[in-house]
Amino acid sequence: TERTFIAVKPDGVQRGIYPEVLRRFTQRGFKLVAIKLTLADESLLRKHYADLQDKPFFPSLLSYMKSGPVLATVWEGKDVVKQGRSMLGATNPLNSAPGTIRGDFALDTGRNIIHGSDSVENAKKEIGLWFKPEELVESKATLASWIYE
Ligand code: GTP
Ligand code: MG
Repeated sequence: TERTFIAVKPDGVQRGIYPEVLRRFTQRGFKLVAIKLTLADESLLRKHYADLQDKPFFPSLLSYMKSGPVLATVWEGKDVVKQGRSMLGATNPLNSAPGTIRGDFALDTGRNIIHGSDSVENAKKEIGLWFKPEELVESKATLASWIYE
């Protein structure tokens, strides 16, 4: 089944929004596969945001992401990459609908509290960057028959 990488950024951790993120993904029916609080180092972030390295905001993005612990998570379930992105809202919180995480809890693009993989391919890449294989926990989805037909 499909997996995605969701990270609560340092502002989302400091502001105490991470329980809400865990609640929303869990209650939607997605299964938590990995979770850790971690300080992202520069080399990890450069790989994670490699496609943005030429952007003018790249240095401030790196210092933002290094400003405190990040809550890194992996979720599994039906269409989780696309559904996760829609639960996050738009990159600019001012364009995020109410009911989305950014639309409910953020105002600035540079403080948008959460990251989500934008494709299945990038999800695989990001999960590999942030987690060791043994940190991904295999468990029986005891609720599966209540969530999936
Ligand atoms: P992520 O889920 O974090 O990857 O966001 P995204 O996929 O919605 O946007 P993108 O990958 O294009 O940009 C990554 C992150 O860089 C954003 O979430 C913002 O935190 C930051 N960012 C993107 N564009 C801007 C910008 O124009 N200004 C600033 N200050 N930050 C930006
Ligand atoms: Mg992105």
